Amino acid sequence: MSLISVKNLYKEYGDNVVLEKLNLEIKEGEFCTLVGPSGCGKSTFLKMLLGQETPTRGTFLFEGKPFPKEPSVERGIVFQRYSVFSHLNVLENVMLGIELEKSRFFGKLFGAKRKEAKKIAMDMLESVGLENSAYKFPSELSGGMQQRLSIAQSLVKKPKLLLLDEPFGALDPGISADMHTLIQELWKKNNLTLVMVTHDLHEGFHLGTRLLVFDKIRHDPHAPDRFGATITYDIPISDTSETTLNKIDKSIKKREKNDN
Ligand SMILES: Nc1ncnc2c1ncn2[C@@H]1O[C@H](COP(=O)(O)OP(=O)(O)OP(=O)(O)O)[C@@H](O)[C@H]1O
Ligand SMILES: [Mg+2]
Repeated sequence: MSLISVKNLYKEYGDNVVLEKLNLEIKEGEFCTLVGPSGCGKSTFLKMLLGQETPTRGTFLFEGKPFPKEPSVERGIVFQRYSVFSHLNVLENVMLGIELEKSRFFGKLFGAKRKEAKKIAMDMLESVGLENSAYKFPSELSGGMQQRLSIAQSLVKKPKLLLLDEPFGALDPGISADMHTLIQELWKKNNLTLVMVTHDLHEGFHLGTRLLVFDKIRHDPHAPDRFGATITYDIPISDTSETTLNKIDKSIKKREKNDN
């Protein structure tokens, strides 16, 4: 059974058709990267996977059941700009995720339970390489370290599905390369299913197991909102070649040029 099953899905905001006729099956353990022109609905799709948005029409299943309408611990997200709490230190930021889950009423744990949460959070910080920054505040961290913290914050809740929306987009190339290694390690170690949006086609081609391209097949230059994007390429990464890469790159650039 697929972890995610999407059939004939549409997403519209008023008259703006963002996604149309989307069909997709994602199995547990896949690492899908998602590329496409700006504004084609990539973040919207992730928000639907997270439970922040609902499709307008179509079938949308998680483990064979209708998608939970609210975000839940099964699904975590990391955005391009980090979303941690600036008044909490690194360790407290990671512990907060555990505390909120285990003590919904107080949002805080005490005694042995707190000690246990601290140990889990420290282990998580170690696995993202932040064990020496546990008592620093987010403002004292570099961009790459902040993203490591965001990832730790999501992973500590043990999600099945981790969603990444251009998580490395704001980082220098050298730092992104380190993050690529990290995310691949974490994906394998935690048996995650990953869906990652990226603007960097090379990143999309080399990082995951499957590349998805969102784009419009139909385009009305006089009414750009009339048609939505759909999946135009769905390629297992092992099958990719430079020719395919160039072809996709050209079609994305062409669409972005037409839209501007
Ligand atoms: N809450 C909303 N209300 C109305 N329209 C929205 C909303 N969120 C997104 N949209 C519209 O949906 C379309 C897709 O937006 P989305 O952010 O998903 O694109 P994207 O592919 O992630 O783009 P980018 O690559 O620039 O991040 C855009 O036309 C946007 O204006
Ligand atoms: Mg986006």
